[in-house]
Amino acid sequence: MNTKNFNFLVEFATKAPSGHNTQPWKFENFQDGIIIHPDFTRSLPVVDGDNHALYISLGCALENLIIVASQKGYECEIDYPTNNHNGITVLLRTNATDNPIGDELFDFIPKRQVNRSKYSDKNVNETELDILRTSFSFEGVSIILLNGKVSFERVIPLIIEGNNLQFQNKNFVNELTSWFRYSKSEAEEKKDGLWTAVMGLPNMGRFIGNFVMKNFVSAQSEAKRINDILNNTAGIAIFVCEKNDTISWINVGRAFQRFALTATKLGICHAHLNMPCEEISIRHKLAKELGIEKQHPLLLIRFGYADKMPYSLRRNIEDVIIKGN
Ligand SMILES: Cc1cc2nc3c(=O)[nH]c(=O)nc-3n(C[C@H](O)[C@H](O)[C@H](O)COP(=O)(O)O)c2cc1C
Repeated sequence: MNTKNFNFLVEFATKAPSGHNTQPWKFENFQDGIIIHPDFTRSLPVVDGDNHALYISLGCALENLIIVASQKGYECEIDYPTNNHNGITVLLRTNATDNPIGDELFDFIPKRQVNRSKYSDKNVNETELDILRTSFSFEGVSIILLNGKVSFERVIPLIIEGNNLQFQNKNFVNELTSWFRYSKSEAEEKKDGLWTAVMGLPNMGRFIGNFVMKNFVSAQSEAKRINDILNNTAGIAIFVCEKNDTISWINVGRAFQRFALTATKLGICHAHLNMPCEEISIRHKLAKELGIEKQHPLLLIRFGYADKMPYSLRRNIEDVIIKGN
């Protein structure tokens, strides 16, 4: 593919979400298409020991890439990796038609964001819930939508239990804070990670930021914040897969990305509360609570209405492509 089209596709692909905004991907241009490689130098060994979240992030980037490719008149064929080391090969064929149909979600790729603010108390109506429920179709991946606080009250204790386990683990906190970007200048220099402004926090610099994290943020303070947030959440979406393997993780990412773009189109915000999915013992309890013991709940997303937040940054294209192409 020519460099101009390749860069265009990659630019949109990298607008995908990723755990801690690590952007764990590299893109390779080859004659018949693009390979999305995992970048394990950007993995999260504590919170994501098996790299399932890393492959979910690659799935989100893949879905963006497919949407943009269809907009540019390409048809895609996906060659999935069969292990959690290899990349995803996207074979691209030029569509014979001069007027490609494209994908209506294309316009919402730059508008989508994870919004961690407190939402309003407005509920999502049934028509929009149905649109969200049917926003994707991938074999082996399903969604459980819990709308209204009464319907998700039973999962709140599991969110808090997962949160407590994580914040009591020094290694988790160290890994998390290593991806914090405490000031605009640090965020702009690194162009990755979790910028405080995006999380609704002030600029504070790394020294003060680390002091605040160590002395004022605890399992208890986070639990209080989460309870408060959940009092103002319209609903919860849980992404579930039948198998816990690389292909399923990628498809969960693809499904989540379509859900997130569809929500953006509807003016509905979303943010992750993944703690019960990340802690394996709690993941089992969650599956039991939901009556899906043999399946794997991998993402837990709150949704509702709120004002926009500042956007997360992305690295430059030249930092995410494999050179020599
Ligand atoms: C697999 C995955 C797991 C994530 N887990 C969390 C999480 O537990 N908590 C959170 O606040 N955000 C989580 N996020 C959201 C990312 O932090 C977010 O996508 C990233 O910071 C980039 O921001 P943006 O999506 O608004 O562009 C997750 C995203 C992905 C794809």
